[in-house]
Amino acid sequence: MKIAIVGGTGDFGQGLVMRWADEHEIIIGSREADRAETSAQEMSSMLRGRGIEARIRGMENCDAIEESELVVLSLPYKHARPMVVDMKDSFGDQIVVSPVVPMSRVGKRFDYTPPAEGSAALMFRDLLPPSVKVVAAFHTISASSLQNLDRTLEGDVLIAGDDSSSKQVVADLVRIIEHLRPLDAGDLKVSTQIEGLTPLLLNLSKVDGNGIKCPGIAIVLSCPTEKKIESCHS
Ligand SMILES: NC(=O)c1ccc[n+]([C@@H]2O[C@H](COP(=O)([O-])OP(=O)(O)OC[C@H]3O[C@@H](n4cnc5c(N)ncnc54)[C@H](OP(=O)(O)O)[C@@H]3O)[C@@H](O)[C@H]2O)c1
Repeated sequence: MKIAIVGGTGDFGQGLVMRWADEHEIIIGSREADRAETSAQEMSSMLRGRGIEARIRGMENCDAIEESELVVLSLPYKHARPMVVDMKDSFGDQIVVSPVVPMSRVGKRFDYTPPAEGSAALMFRDLLPPSVKVVAAFHTISASSLQNLDRTLEGDVLIAGDDSSSKQVVADLVRIIEHLRPLDAGDLKVSTQIEGLTPLLLNLSKVDGNGIKCPGIAIVLSCPTEKKIESCHS
């Protein structure tokens, strides 16, 4: 599959490139084609050093979108709305993945600060053509963990979207990253709950006594046997 990563020169986008380039053709998008090409060359040579012959190209964001079947919007939230409005005509019927977390810092605390649409993912759905299928995913995965191929990433990736087959495609992208488990969280409105987990995780990691660094999300069974699981929900 051809995957465009808009803002793929940033930490999070580069992490996804590192993890997916062995199996998919990647186009790094940037506002500057030169920056994207340089980044593509650097990532290719880094992966070649690990024996991976990746197909990575770099392009200006709109060209990257037009060439791709799936687009990750790896942009800072505060610039995402005007960027997506500007790029709107480049979209056709792609799957658009949003890892975008609208949050702001209040002193030491991070707050979830969603737009009027309810979440960043819902905002993208409203801004983009109706033929685009927006899927929210990867909010609780850290860029530094993605970028370090020697690091095992454990936990769950919560996926929300209104189109089941698009969510399956994104779930398969999660499965490429060993030990990560994709979980279907429901329709795109659930993105309002998922995006808010990131500031929560950051706040947990800021409290010294918690001893938590680089937190993620893992859903555990609170009932040890199947019988008890049934009774939990009865
Ligand atoms: N970092 C994480 O650990 C993490 C974890 C989960 C989710 N996320 C989400 O992933 C997204 C990307 O995160 P990131 O840390 O990679 O962000 P970032 O490094 O700050 O920015 C990503 C790219 O966006 C472009 N960009 C920067 N400023 C811009 C501006 N003023 N206008 C338009 N484009 C601009 C840049 O690409 P060019 O200059 O090449 O155009 C930059 O390389 C965010 O929405 C974040 O919430 C991040």
